[in-house]
Amino acid sequence: MFSTALVLIIIALLFLRNQMRPIIRLANAAEAFGKGRPVGDYKASGALEVRRAGVAFADMRRRIERQIDQRTTMLAGVSHDLRTILTRMRLQLAFLGDTPESEAMRKDVDEMSNMLEDYLAFAKGDGDEEPQETDVALLFEELEEESEISGNNVKASFDGPSEVLLRRNSMKRCLSNLVTNGCKYGQRVELNGTIENDWLIITVDDDGPGIPEDQRDMAFRAFHRLDLARNQDKTGSGLGLAIARDITRSHGGDLYLEDSPLGGLRARLRIPA
Ligand SMILES: Nc1ncnc2c1ncn2[C@@H]1O[C@H](COP(=O)(O)OP(=O)(O)OP(=O)(O)O)[C@@H](O)[C@H]1O
Ligand SMILES: [Mg+2]
Repeated sequence: MFSTALVLIIIALLFLRNQMRPIIRLANAAEAFGKGRPVGDYKASGALEVRRAGVAFADMRRRIERQIDQRTTMLAGVSHDLRTILTRMRLQLAFLGDTPESEAMRKDVDEMSNMLEDYLAFAKGDGDEEPQETDVALLFEELEEESEISGNNVKASFDGPSEVLLRRNSMKRCLSNLVTNGCKYGQRVELNGTIENDWLIITVDDDGPGIPEDQRDMAFRAFHRLDLARNQDKTGSGLGLAIARDITRSHGGDLYLEDSPLGGLRARLRIPA
């Protein structure tokens, strides 16, 4: 009886292992897709039910990719068409000569083309870039140097090992948006990073006025800028935070706004390392 049971148990274990493998592969593929990493060529296999789940996942992935594609193409198309008209307007303005009115209009046209560039960048997102091993400490140094050139006071420091699999350019854009905000609304900006329990944690602190808790959700909305009184003389399209959150989420992480020990706003982002 004992040996028969042993044989049966071994057969059951072998069978079970075979059934588990496709489920684990499906879970890995779904996890990688969620973190924005390459999924590889996932093929559904295994028992009928597992295969069905696998096919549904592959379909969902295709649908999501198609939707992102559609969004990009549409926004890029609109921006492109508008840009053509703006170029024409700029040309006509050049013929008008230098009057105060044409100067004002030229400024408006310039502002509109800047906005269009922003929209294009937002629409493009980071779909094309492949994740690569990135030294975040080095990225911090670059940001520090760049903001020094534009005359801002940014201090960056990273604690511990700093190699993480990231889309480098997108991540830089994300951090640069947050640092630019800090410099725009405050005087002093601090950038800190560390890796904790397999999560990359980055905080961007400033000593500006901060954002009241009930307005933080609004600040994330694309094209949304908080009340005009605080945005006097400050230009922007209200896309910075929306883009930054988009990028952290596409890495499988998230971005939070909090109170900073420096007295202003703290942007904290966490990404699976
Ligand atoms: N560090 C900050 N301190 C205080 N207020 C901030 C800070 N960062 C953002 N905000 C508020 O949140 C709003 C949205 O920020 P967001 O970066 O999305 O847009 P923007 O900076 O106005 O324009 P853009 O970044 O597109 O040039 C800003 O208009 C500003 O009122
Ligand atoms: Mg901004």
